[in-house]
Amino acid sequence: MDLVQRRLHEKYGYLIRIGPNELSCADPKAKKDIYRLRNPLQKTDFYSVFKNPKIGAGENLFSLTNEKEHSKLKRAIGNVYKLENIDEKCVDRCSQLFLGRIGELADEGHNIELGRWLHMFAYDTIGEIFFGHMFGFMEHRFDHGSYIESVKLLMPILCIAAVSPVYLRPIIFGFSFMVPAIRRAFQALDNINCAAENIVKTQLETEQTNNNGLLQKLFSLEKKKAINMDHVKMEAWSALFAGADTTAIALCSIFYHLMRNPTAYEKLQVEIDSTYLSISPGDDISFSEARKLPYLKACILEATRLSPSIGLTLPRVVPLDGLSLCGRHIPSSYRVGINPAVIHYDETVFGRDASLFRPERWLEENAAEDMGRYLLNFGAGTRTCIGQNIANLEMYKLPLAVLRRFHICMKPNQAWKTRDVWFNQPEELYVKITRRSYPM
Ligand code: HEM
Repeated sequence: MDLVQRRLHEKYGYLIRIGPNELSCADPKAKKDIYRLRNPLQKTDFYSVFKNPKIGAGENLFSLTNEKEHSKLKRAIGNVYKLENIDEKCVDRCSQLFLGRIGELADEGHNIELGRWLHMFAYDTIGEIFFGHMFGFMEHRFDHGSYIESVKLLMPILCIAAVSPVYLRPIIFGFSFMVPAIRRAFQALDNINCAAENIVKTQLETEQTNNNGLLQKLFSLEKKKAINMDHVKMEAWSALFAGADTTAIALCSIFYHLMRNPTAYEKLQVEIDSTYLSISPGDDISFSEARKLPYLKACILEATRLSPSIGLTLPRVVPLDGLSLCGRHIPSSYRVGINPAVIHYDETVFGRDASLFRPERWLEENAAEDMGRYLLNFGAGTRTCIGQNIANLEMYKLPLAVLRRFHICMKPNQAWKTRDVWFNQPEELYVKITRRSYPM
């Protein structure tokens, strides 16, 4: 989808029709209008597919289309996701386990399916940060509760339903239910519901007040009546659903682009090694330290620019007075949106070589500010990703920890194959991992 949409925009310009009353816009200037902060455009019914009817009214921060209700809920819970509330040690514990596991596999001489291990890392990290314990993906080396498989199987159906008219959705879901694998995936997705429900219940019963996870912070809000228990359960569920796959994809793209570009990989390796000469590779580097590495930051921005985790337009409803886009008046009730995987390739913003991985572009004067405002990785406007601090902790800390201990490579010129079903899911990515042998 992302490739097709990029080609269509190349051929027909910044504004293209992708449905009877739906437009895809690729004009960087339009970002501030479509995702404006004042009188924001509402999310479309695309998002109602991501409600969870099994928990209360089913609405969550992600799926809510009513901007007033959304801003009320965001005011109530937004602080929970602030950086100072997230225990960085959770990411360290998960990184250490990840390093241990890939070290064992490296010693056994196996090639590793990196994407799968990054998924397991991302799910366990959400568990550790949110619920105060990992789920056991990495410990038991398997897809706990089949979460990974279920999301993989379900996303295409959810995506087709989300881009289809509401009246067709029951038919789509009905037919998909006839496919045994998808039926199983729906059942497995119920495991995520149950997991969220059970963890909330257990922590409530045992009053684990010493547990510092974000869930406890949500409980405190519930006690103060700022939110209700359904909100707590829903946040737990949406952290699992919205926070694990997206982060795993981002991590995968960082590793992929580094392996695909050995010069950049080597430059990053030199930056890391020379900065931490006196610190043992087994020790954790803090996020505040990691963020000071300019080339690491540039690599993360560049990889997630070229391969954003979400690869469809983020659709919004044109308001009653219409919207002016690319010199055209767009009437009310039309849907418009920008696809991160399209705008990120815009040559007027990112340069003539926008389709190439070149982290150096982020180090040029004013570049981070000039280009950064057109990145849509984490969305834009009033609906930007609430979990970006969690994601950033993982995106800085894990690659840094891995590169300090291991060398990783894939077959030369291996292509980046993804399946764009809203989440732009990477296909299997086998890599060879070896321990670095310099004195540590
Ligand atoms: C690299 C990782 C991530 C990426 C690329 C990502 C991407 C996004 C994007 C693009 C949006 C906006 C969607 C739209 O406007 O249609 C969004 C919203 C959201 N994300 Fe993330 N996300 C990531 C990680 C996380 C994590 C770790 C969590 C939770 C713990 C999370 C929870 C949410 C929620 C709840 C929303 C809805 C926010 C709102 O509407 O106010 N995300 N994310």
